[in-house]
Amino acid sequence: MEKINIIGAGLAGLTAAITLAKGGRHSRLISLQRSERAQSVLAEGGINAALNVMGEGDKPEYHFEDTMRGGVYLADEEAVRRLTEGAPDIVMWLAGLGVPFNMKDGRLIQRNFGGQKKKRTAYAKSSTGKMIMSALIDEARKYEVAGLIERYPHHAFQGAVIMDGVCLGAAVCDTYTGERLTFGGRVIMCCGGLAGLFPRMTTGTTQNSGHAAARLFGQGVVFGNLEMLQYHPTTIGIPDKRCLVTEAARGEGGRLYIERQGSKWYFMEEKYPELKNLMPRDVVAREMFMVRRREDCGDTVYLDMTELSVDVWDKRLPDLRAEIMHYLSLDPAREPIPVREGIHYFMGGINTDVRHRTNIAGLYAAGECTCQYHGANRLGGNSMLGAVFGGKTAAEDILSLPEADTPDLPDAAVTDTEPPEAVKAELGEILYSGLGIVRSESGLMRALERLDELEAREGAFPESRLGRAMLLSALKRRESRGAHFREDFPERSEELRAPTLAVCRDGKIIAEIGGDRI
Ligand code: FUM
Repeated sequence: MEKINIIGAGLAGLTAAITLAKGGRHSRLISLQRSERAQSVLAEGGINAALNVMGEGDKPEYHFEDTMRGGVYLADEEAVRRLTEGAPDIVMWLAGLGVPFNMKDGRLIQRNFGGQKKKRTAYAKSSTGKMIMSALIDEARKYEVAGLIERYPHHAFQGAVIMDGVCLGAAVCDTYTGERLTFGGRVIMCCGGLAGLFPRMTTGTTQNSGHAAARLFGQGVVFGNLEMLQYHPTTIGIPDKRCLVTEAARGEGGRLYIERQGSKWYFMEEKYPELKNLMPRDVVAREMFMVRRREDCGDTVYLDMTELSVDVWDKRLPDLRAEIMHYLSLDPAREPIPVREGIHYFMGGINTDVRHRTNIAGLYAAGECTCQYHGANRLGGNSMLGAVFGGKTAAEDILSLPEADTPDLPDAAVTDTEPPEAVKAELGEILYSGLGIVRSESGLMRALERLDELEAREGAFPESRLGRAMLLSALKRRESRGAHFREDFPERSEELRAPTLAVCRDGKIIAEIGGDRI
């Protein structure tokens, strides 16, 4: 009997396991952390679907258009079409599992999020991720007791077992006992984003090291759009990471300003009169960065939420208020808070087709570790949607195929250690120096030189290879598009409207727009 190996137990992994179990198939849910500690529980604002419950005439077609435009036409059009058409069923399925979405008069309600012209984001106060995860964990338990889902928490992924271009299983290590195991069966990677490549600089969990994705990259798996890092405009600094101030704060009326010659300048409202503070994240983050550089402005951007009603704080954003009071010791209902851009999401990742198959037969990927839905910039509220939809789609593809033979595999003799913290920190600093909000050829070349020096000293390692692919992808994209802004190429080029693909072959890293040589 084949058991599918799912690497990662967050939204995408849980959904894949539940979908397989509903179809009568077995899976192993393998993760470093228990689901309760997956990064998905940190998601605050909500999940998008054109349910049209707010009477605005919303349709999946409009969701599709906003997603494509928000991603500046780099996302896979067919994949986005399926995602946006499938979104209403996903949200209604989650509601049916008991997710306590905010309701009014017995009907689910939705709120505004950035880059979208309709109120399309369903939410559970400001803890939507936690609430969705609780419901999915509960649902998965039913199948665990039936023996269809086996859990392997505190197990680290060490690599896919690939023979003759086919993935036959996964090598893992029990981080408590050190025991190494090799599991036969197809593999779905749901290992999340690359937060660990940027220690202390992201809103993602510090536990999400990026090591699993980096291992796969070294094994010849093709990645896409690695230069596309999302900077969330509103984060605050807390020990060891950035803390998200949900976009819902602006969706509910929060306003950004900076001090200019002694008065408050609401720069987003002045420059973008239609969407104002709710322009897509890449635009807001860049504008914040630019106004801070101006000589006539102060060096801090503030988010003013003092006009929000008591009702909004109590019913829609209570956790956000508590979090800010905890970390900043000030009450956002009474005074504006200082905010800054922070790395929040990786639009780039493992390249898959619309069925979530990778370039290696038998190897799938879903969730933030993939790249097809968000192009050059992800819309808020589309990430949980992409994770749930992706996990479901990958599992459904497997359900449509006969069970694979699972040959006995020798136990993995993989020696795979993560680099020391100091080396990771140095790598993070190098990558950040090249891949900031504003980039240039000289900055990227300098970062590559520093990476050469690091590798000459420490030897190349999985994360350094993936980091190199990120820098090379950014170097190749000689235009500005979405989250990738090149001050030496500030315009968008229609000729470059194609994903950047990257692969590691025999230790050599190739990155190409359009990927002709990949
Ligand atoms: O701002 C937020 O609540 C983030 C949501 C998202 O990234 O989808």
